[in-house]
Amino acid sequence: MKQDQASGRVTERLGADAHGIARAAELLRQGKLVALPTETVYGLAADATSGAAVAGIYAAKERPSFNPLIAHLPDLAAARRQGLFDASALALAKAFWPGPLTLVVPISPGCEVSELARAGLASVALRVPSHPLAHAILQAAERPIAAPSANRSGRISATSAAHVLADLDGRIDAVIDGGPTEVGVESTIVACLDGAPRLLRPGGVPRSAIEGVIGRPLVLAGDAGMAPISPGLLASHYAPAARVRLDAEVPRPGEAWLGFGADPDGATAGRPALNLSPSGDLGEAAANLFGHLRSLDALGPVTIAIAPVPQHGLGEAINDRLRRAAAPR
Ligand code: TXA
Ligand code: MG
Repeated sequence: MKQDQASGRVTERLGADAHGIARAAELLRQGKLVALPTETVYGLAADATSGAAVAGIYAAKERPSFNPLIAHLPDLAAARRQGLFDASALALAKAFWPGPLTLVVPISPGCEVSELARAGLASVALRVPSHPLAHAILQAAERPIAAPSANRSGRISATSAAHVLADLDGRIDAVIDGGPTEVGVESTIVACLDGAPRLLRPGGVPRSAIEGVIGRPLVLAGDAGMAPISPGLLASHYAPAARVRLDAEVPRPGEAWLGFGADPDGATAGRPALNLSPSGDLGEAAANLFGHLRSLDALGPVTIAIAPVPQHGLGEAINDRLRRAAAPR
């Protein structure tokens, strides 16, 4: 185990069993930092009601403190104690919780989520994850739990305990290993603040499924001159060390290759190459996305060329992450 010079922490490795769950909840109640699996990505969890605990998340991730965090709850009843749900928010929560959806709603009068976790906003981002380990820990912790993705700020999100440790070993108190995450991209974020639900971030619930519930097209925040209201949506994010070239038909000499669907002839020979989903399945591609980017990046290529990914279904979230990975830094 690595001991971080600055913090002197040793990161405990917890198993996915009753002891691990109890220990994770105990550490959270003590204001400590615990990385835990959700169905989307691993989260770096801390007591959302404690400003000091939340400050620890920002420090470990080296995250700009203006970027607000999602508060995780075990069920809708617990979420409704923190935020005010209008009719659309309630319909969406009932349709997709537990699951990969985050709702940004006005804070309730009794909201316990700290100002720091909300970055001073009068709204709060709430999510009820479906992962059984996350659910058990949230129930045992008995308070809202703030959790951004468990990676250094701006880097590729963690979809396994090994990814968490590669970025945060010695900087956090514990990680509980629940194996690789199932969905692979972060939750879809929808703001329900003024009657017209807005899509703040595409994610694990496809846009069409949300639109099916609210019965009309979702407005994309940032479209048509709207002020961005999700301050965390920095252009460069999920960034590998390598440059990223999108919509590549074939790799150029010296480039690594990340395919989707059938690889073009010769694309994989004599170069680092992986495929998000040889059969062209978007769910499989989302689950592989961050792990494959990390694996290729670890081989040190100057550029990773990435095949086009269709924009429908989970493709909207995958392409959003790829555009940020490719953005100028
Ligand atoms: O799947 C997920 O959502 C994962 C797992 C761990 O739950 N979490 C995650 O958190 O992706 P994070 O911190 O990487 O992304 C949270 C996003 C940020 O872009 C932030 O700006 C936005 O949520 N957000 C949080 N509170 C907000 C608020 N009150 N208004 C607008 N955006 C908000
Ligand atoms: Mg993140």
